[in-house]
Amino acid sequence: MIKILTVFGTRPEAIKMCPVIREMQRNSDISNILCVTGQHREMLDSVLDIFDICADYDLNIMKDNQTLLSVTQCVIEGIDKILDKVSPDLVLVHGDTTTAYATALACFYRKIPIGHVEAGLRTYDIKQPFPEEFNRKSIDMMAEILFAPTENARRNLIGEGIPEDKITVTGNTIIDAMGMTVKPDYMDENLLWASDSRLVLLTAHRRENLGEPMKRIFLAVKRIVEEYEDVKCIFPVHLNPLVQETAEKVLGNVDKIRLIRPMDVVSFHNYIAHSFLVLTDSGGIQEEAPAIGKPVLVIRDVTERPEGIQSGSLKLVGTDEKNIYSSIKCLLENKDEYHKMSIAKNPYGDGNASKRIVDTVLNRIK
Ligand code: UD1
Ligand code: UDP
Repeated sequence: MIKILTVFGTRPEAIKMCPVIREMQRNSDISNILCVTGQHREMLDSVLDIFDICADYDLNIMKDNQTLLSVTQCVIEGIDKILDKVSPDLVLVHGDTTTAYATALACFYRKIPIGHVEAGLRTYDIKQPFPEEFNRKSIDMMAEILFAPTENARRNLIGEGIPEDKITVTGNTIIDAMGMTVKPDYMDENLLWASDSRLVLLTAHRRENLGEPMKRIFLAVKRIVEEYEDVKCIFPVHLNPLVQETAEKVLGNVDKIRLIRPMDVVSFHNYIAHSFLVLTDSGGIQEEAPAIGKPVLVIRDVTERPEGIQSGSLKLVGTDEKNIYSSIKCLLENKDEYHKMSIAKNPYGDGNASKRIVDTVLNRIK
């Protein structure tokens, strides 16, 4: 029996790792242990509830306005004790959060093999996104098994000198998750409110967008809903107090904009399905929306998801107010442009990424 410890702590890691946990639970050769760091609290718990998964250990580290250093310190100290107790054969981490980086570092110091899910994403700008580009590069250097979601991610890793036999292309587990969430008959009160309009679904939380860039993003959206009668916006506001504050200040009293609590992932995926376009600085949403044919305007200067740009579903619009305004306006007015961006494309696999990850683990760890 192989002992596998999975560690995650934030909403997106949980959404993409719950399908892998489910797959491991089905396999009698694996003893599956889950430790959550609680880097996020409510936003993490909501995902565990939806997938009906219970953690064996919970470091419960979240603090309001936590710093990168405090998260790193708390995770390293907490995980080290769990590693001592569990002695896993392999530790699985996901993506580029501080939870994933600090966990990998703790494993590396103890010479415990690391499996990195969603390996090889790069912008090649160490400051964007910050600190995620540093985190994912560092994890890839330390990992024994690298699960690249696409060929492009695999090529990035090979270009950095990672041996080919450490890398498996699996697809992205978000497609596995979406197989469980998107429902044709989904409806609720917010969507009924928006049903007479074209819906702009907005999310924003990146550290490099906090403050002035976020204010500019919100002002552009405000101008759009004020100018176009048939446009409404729903914004599930990230629980980061700095995001909440700017959102409330700029968008708090705009009739056609609803600021709501973060949604559970089933609701959010179905909101994407009902939207006209998505405006976001999120990583994961750049994979989800194109998969169901929704154009995404990415409020960042660079992306680690070039597949969506190449296929035409994503457009980088930065954080300049005028540019965001005119990019939304273009999609509202130009049917051809909208049509080009709204043809569903899915470069992220067939929904069996979790199975490939588990099969690879079983082959590699004996
Ligand atoms: C983290 C990740 C980022 C990921 C994002 C997903 C790092 C460095 N950043 O950024 O890569 O894209 O999660 O959302 O790992 N908060 C709550 N309740 C919650 C969640 C957050 O109150 O359930 C508040 C807390 O005040 C917390 C703040 O949000 O201090 C920021 O959380 P943190 O995990 O530090 O940063 P994110 O911007 O969420
Ligand atoms: N998401 C959610 N509820 C929301 C907003 C987003 O469940 O109210 C999901 C979304 O479907 C995606 C993930 O959260 O799977 C993205 O998380 P986030 O944008 O916080 O992080 P990133 O992907 O940028 O790391």
